[in-house]
Amino acid sequence: FLLFPSPIQGAGAATDAATGTGMEELSWCARCAGLAFLVFSVCVVALGAALFLARRWPWCSCHVCRSYLTGSWARDFTNLGDWYAHLLRCSPTGTVAVHVLGCTITANPANVEHMLHTRFDNFPKGKPFAAVLGDLLGGGIFNVDGDAWRHQRKMASLELGSVAVRSYAYGIVAEEVEARLLPLLADAADNGRVVDLQDVFRRFAFDTICKISFGLDPGCLELDMPMSKLAAAFDTASRLSAMRGAAASPLVWRVKRLLNVGSERELRKSIRLVDELAAAMIRQRRKLGVAGSHDLLSRFMASEAHGTAVDDKYLRDIVVSFLLAGRDTVSSALTTIFMLLSKNPAVAAAVRAEAAAGEKTRTASKTTYEQLKSLHYTHAVLHENMRLFPPVQFDSKFCAADDVLPDGTYVTAGARVMYHPYAMGRMPRIWGDDCEKFRPERWLTGPGGTFVPESLYRYPVFQAGLRVCLGKELAVMEMKAVSVAVVKQFDVEVVGHKGAVPRFAPGLTASISGGLPVRVRRV
Ligand code: HEM
Repeated sequence: FLLFPSPIQGAGAATDAATGTGMEELSWCARCAGLAFLVFSVCVVALGAALFLARRWPWCSCHVCRSYLTGSWARDFTNLGDWYAHLLRCSPTGTVAVHVLGCTITANPANVEHMLHTRFDNFPKGKPFAAVLGDLLGGGIFNVDGDAWRHQRKMASLELGSVAVRSYAYGIVAEEVEARLLPLLADAADNGRVVDLQDVFRRFAFDTICKISFGLDPGCLELDMPMSKLAAAFDTASRLSAMRGAAASPLVWRVKRLLNVGSERELRKSIRLVDELAAAMIRQRRKLGVAGSHDLLSRFMASEAHGTAVDDKYLRDIVVSFLLAGRDTVSSALTTIFMLLSKNPAVAAAVRAEAAAGEKTRTASKTTYEQLKSLHYTHAVLHENMRLFPPVQFDSKFCAADDVLPDGTYVTAGARVMYHPYAMGRMPRIWGDDCEKFRPERWLTGPGGTFVPESLYRYPVFQAGLRVCLGKELAVMEMKAVSVAVVKQFDVEVVGHKGAVPRFAPGLTASISGGLPVRVRRV
């Protein structure tokens, strides 16, 4: 406003030159006033920005925030989750705040129930989460709240709960185990080859979930371990989306996305590929028809016939959500099961003995879905494994309106509240003094040593309440089928990784940094 005088000011200045000093003084006064106004405006804007930053990024010098900001926690703990578990154990309420993150972290089951059930509507996933995964997942079930979520949840739980889809899924898992997983491990055993079991299980889980979701077989677990285009694009897309969540400020990835540079450029490319491949599969399924097909894509398409409008974008989004939900979670749990069995050979022997006892009492050579259900000890091993190593180590919600958690913690609107299954599995007040010990027997307290489930608010490995995991039964069946089949035929010994706690890589689901190299021997 000083550099570009208005036409009226310009006209006034011309008149001043002609009429003398009175007008010059007026112009000088106007300039001073203008300068003062500019200085005032800059101060107001700077103050506003400072207040905004202070509100969004609270500076704090408490020991937790200092340790977080300087990274000094890493001197004593292997993973951030181990440090959080330590802080939560020390807290009388089982809740702590990391002020610099604007985040409350809890391992208190009453708080978890409050968030996931009692005040469910006040703790949505929220816009920050939706933005991070939005480009990959679109409006898929995993990434939406409110009516959009309710609608997909109803449709998906109907399909996943149906006997037809369940037995289709079981058939797929059994086939992938027999035709690919066991031959691959046998080959490694016979050739004395060390394999990365984490990579093997990721391939296994990707083949399985693709067949269940799309009816498509990417064949990632063939003996020569081919690289599937879809798997590679999906890997990159989920890794880079997770990186967004870990950025110091969302501004960083938003600017990069706007400019289409660096990781955001790569993310855009990989999502485009996922989109193209998903579109091709949807087109093909439309051409072939859905009658008699039990993959989820066909089931969702069939609901069009029952009056539910489902366009291609909607189908793409929901099925991609299923790929994300059902792939790395299962492979993460399978990896840690075998890590624990390698360290606890007596438990592996007990799983083998339970499977052998089941075989004596049946006539068919293959384990059926119903028979898998009766393996209580193996069931306990899976749950004990996920207590210590939950595939989803933490989960956040954003508080919609000011709230007070049952332990008295005040949460302001917009704040992030995180419940932490990894830490909860290490709380003596939930699991007793031996909580750090891998002891499957703790689950076998029913009549005759049968499995007794724990409240999901104390064990929110599959989340709990209204948004509890829709693939829980499927995942447990899959993990059981794999564990029993592998343990029956092979001894798995982890090579390296001798420490008590593995180091986890950052990401949406827990994965062991550097993989899990193992040597396999035939039993
Ligand atoms: C060990 C395996 C698994 C674990 C530990 C697990 C865990 C979870 C967790 C923690 C959530 C909540 C995530 C959130 O809202 O932020 C979730 C949601 C979900 N899971 Fe799983 N999951 C597993 C396997 C599967 C499988 C195999 C499928 C699909 C076939 C599946 C489908 C879903 C879906 C659709 C949701 C979204 C539910 C909703 O938002 O209403 N999950 N799962």
